[in-house]
Amino acid sequence: MATNTKNNQRVALVTGAARGIGETIAHVFASAGYYVVAIDILSDELNALADRIRASGGSCDAYTVDLADLYAVESTVEQIGESLGRIDVLVNNAATRSLHSVRGITKEAWDKVLAINITAPVFLSKWVIPWMRRTDARPHGGAIINISSVEANIPKGVAVSYAVTKGGLLSFTYDAAASLADIGIRVVALSPGAIETAFGADYGDADSGKLEADMRAHSLQVIPMGRWGTTDEIAKAVLWLASDDASFVTGTEFRVDGGMTQTWMAHDVKKQILPDEFES
Ligand SMILES: NC(=O)c1ccc[n+]([C@@H]2O[C@H](COP(=O)([O-])OP(=O)(O)OC[C@H]3O[C@@H](n4cnc5c(N)ncnc54)[C@H](O)[C@@H]3O)[C@@H](O)[C@H]2O)c1
Repeated sequence: MATNTKNNQRVALVTGAARGIGETIAHVFASAGYYVVAIDILSDELNALADRIRASGGSCDAYTVDLADLYAVESTVEQIGESLGRIDVLVNNAATRSLHSVRGITKEAWDKVLAINITAPVFLSKWVIPWMRRTDARPHGGAIINISSVEANIPKGVAVSYAVTKGGLLSFTYDAAASLADIGIRVVALSPGAIETAFGADYGDADSGKLEADMRAHSLQVIPMGRWGTTDEIAKAVLWLASDDASFVTGTEFRVDGGMTQTWMAHDVKKQILPDEFES
């Protein structure tokens, strides 16, 4: 039996909410008055997040789900819909990565990354759509925000399955936006650049940390703003994209990358050719 949320609160379902970017998205949406439904495989961290949101006066339900288990995903969406009566925003944020190039990729690693990074977002969207449809009380329908990555466009050649899924999320965004515009559902991809999370920094050399330090130094050379972004800078962009203020934004990629994707080469060239104008 469906019950309305308190004061007709909007519901935002956020995957990968236990830590990193997803955790901040959950907090930012809760602070903006959304009823947050947080999904992750990390049960303890997820429940701690829900406790923190409730303790600060927000609304949050936590569901521990492995997104690779599609049956569990489908029944979770059904439970959420039945209990809250509506889902206004879906943020497909959870992801995993395997450090294999095309030469080293294994079927097992490929299947796992595709299951979590692309199959789950597609089917979550499919199952959420019936709870999002436009009604008199909700003239704008809903919004699906897919967290892609600049790696869809500037891959490093070390994580083929990850790059393919992030590119796939862009194509999915465009196709789903075309399919859902007539029922008032917007679909947008947000591509972060380098963001301060464990995942953002972890390129597999846990022993010495050297690779991480090298990666960081290199990335700072190609980010015109000269720093990594924060989870807050991503979460606030997601909040805006999901809001009615973005009511004409659909079927597009929104990059939050400090200028990296479009200008990474210009940054270096400027340093060489116009050193007097180079300030960082
Ligand atoms: N941090 C960056 O620099 C960066 C850059 C570009 C894109 N992104 C994207 O942003 C999103 C969030 O990244 P992050 O840096 O916060 O990563 P993170 O690893 O800190 O968080 C990812 C979350 O997804 C969850 N998750 C992974 N597999 C799952 C599964 N099978 N079922 C349920 N939950 C699962 C993890 O438990 C974790 O809480 C990802 O889509 C990532 O690709 C991050």
